[in-house]
Amino acid sequence: MKAACRQVTRIGKTLGFVPTMGALHEGHLSLVRASKARCDVTAVSIFVNPLQFGPAEDLDKYPRTMERDTALLEQLGADLLFTPAVEEMYPAGAQTYVLVEGLSNKLDGASRPGHFRGVATVVAKLFEIVRPDFAFFGQKDAAQAAVLRKLVNDLDMDVEVVVCPIVRESDGLAMSSRNAYLTSEQRQQALVLYRSLLRVQAAVDHGERDSAKLIEIGKQVIANESGAKLDYFAIVDPDALELVADVSCGALVAVAAYVGATRLIDNILVTASSR
Ligand code: PAF
Repeated sequence: MKAACRQVTRIGKTLGFVPTMGALHEGHLSLVRASKARCDVTAVSIFVNPLQFGPAEDLDKYPRTMERDTALLEQLGADLLFTPAVEEMYPAGAQTYVLVEGLSNKLDGASRPGHFRGVATVVAKLFEIVRPDFAFFGQKDAAQAAVLRKLVNDLDMDVEVVVCPIVRESDGLAMSSRNAYLTSEQRQQALVLYRSLLRVQAAVDHGERDSAKLIEIGKQVIANESGAKLDYFAIVDPDALELVADVSCGALVAVAAYVGATRLIDNILVTASSR
């Protein structure tokens, strides 16, 4: 993979990179399209990274659909595909980790201790292997995007992080590989995440700016869906992931909830137009 990627940059072509854990859906495919639109050559990785899963999480049952993924990437015209084995990425004795302090304990990091250390470590390794000019991530993982922007900035990495919009099903459910775990009843219940965000956006449109009040509105929507259990509902600065008292300067509204055993996340960026 290193040799193939170095060859691309040696001949002066721009290299785009889409790191994934496979089980590709339209969200991932939109990242591949964005890379192809912007870069001469597009590389994709598929690696279910054990380091970012907690001991009680879904590593073993995480969907693995390599043949289908490969066919989709071929159809789309991705140029390079990297599918390392766990032993290749983490040979016995590996002892180095990358931790973006502070940010890694916020939002999903608070609920999933060690998660962002696992993400930052694998992405730093993948960036060193691929050395892309641009790397594409989805806005659905808004906290991950903040952690990775900081990683690249703090370690002076020569890669531009591009964050692409959330892709939704026609009824609004944010695309996620974990949606595959949902029964049809849970699939309906899962719509409550986006509904709670839309309710907050509507309140902002009606002039509400106070984050505490907006959070209450969002939490209430989740509480009214008996099939969902709230993990967090937060209104934060999209880069620092710190709570903001009001949304006058724009903010990230992020929600995480369990539907059955499946933990789902969603978010919107609200902008408060002056009234
Ligand atoms: O967003 C994901 O799929 C993963 O967290 C990533 C960035 C591929 C790292 O394993």
